[in-house]
Amino acid sequence: MVAHHLLPEIARATPTPTPALTLRVRAKDTVADGVVSLTLERPDGTRLPDWTPGAHVDLVLADGTTRQYSLCGDRWDPYTYRVAVLRETAGRGGSAYVHDRLAVGDPVGVGGPHNHFPLAPADRYLFIAGGIGITPLLPMVHQAELMGIDWQLLYGGRTRASMAFRDHLTTAYGERVHLCPEDEYGLLDLDSWLSRPEPGTKVYCCGPAPLLAAVESACAAWPTYSLRTERFAAAAPAEPVRQTPFEVELRRTGRTITVPPDLSVLHAVRRAGVEVLSSCEQGTCGTCLVPVLTGTPDHRDAVLAEHERAAGDCLLPCVSRSRSDRLVLDL
Ligand code: FES
Repeated sequence: MVAHHLLPEIARATPTPTPALTLRVRAKDTVADGVVSLTLERPDGTRLPDWTPGAHVDLVLADGTTRQYSLCGDRWDPYTYRVAVLRETAGRGGSAYVHDRLAVGDPVGVGGPHNHFPLAPADRYLFIAGGIGITPLLPMVHQAELMGIDWQLLYGGRTRASMAFRDHLTTAYGERVHLCPEDEYGLLDLDSWLSRPEPGTKVYCCGPAPLLAAVESACAAWPTYSLRTERFAAAAPAEPVRQTPFEVELRRTGRTITVPPDLSVLHAVRRAGVEVLSSCEQGTCGTCLVPVLTGTPDHRDAVLAEHERAAGDCLLPCVSRSRSDRLVLDL
């Protein structure tokens, strides 16, 4: 996604979810050129909710914006969360706030953790990171190592100095880690890594859109479900399948609403007085996920995997719509 910032600029200063926790910045460290890590803890030092590799949290910053950041610390440390934040010069200010104003001791609202990028069982893993996309992969690498599963990491970045956690990775894992700064080696040589499908290997990739597109293309001949990706920003969603209104029944609320072409399902549901938590409103964070009971969703998000789309039993109403005349939601 989001974070390491993991999903750097996907978030906006739009409806701010109510943070579940108010944590405190315990440490703020520079971990690469333009990247700081934040270590967060409860003010009273008690345990935090558990999480699994690939998870992210929503940081609700004092300037009113919400950003999603991958958890990149030790999941077996129950007392702290760690995220890393890239300074986004073209961003909307959230990363600048973290870099320039957020200080040790400051409170931070935190929602989650959520995980839309979970590590599925496999015989082997190939992790591919582009820049700050290393963050959700760090706990995965650690988990694979703990489980004794064969893995390799292909990690690209603009320059060596811009690549967060590079020293930790090479020191801890040696030859499993392949650092490829672009100014030394050029773009990642995906062909030599992915041209031959390897049944039993799962490929996890997080990074900028061009890297994800290149990896998706290189994995086209791989077995279904071999590749899982997490995006920094939403790809332009496809045109909706239908341009006409459709009905949405809110089964638990006992209401049926009409969703016109110019209104998202999320906002139509809110107009009906039913609150749904949201964050990015661009189909990239997964916060707004709702169960579908009947009907055929028109999935336009960047979160759900192909098999989840095919199952048709949930949708992200900030961007996704309906193929059928009627959708029944468990709301
Ligand atoms: Fe982020 Fe819907 S609010 S996917």
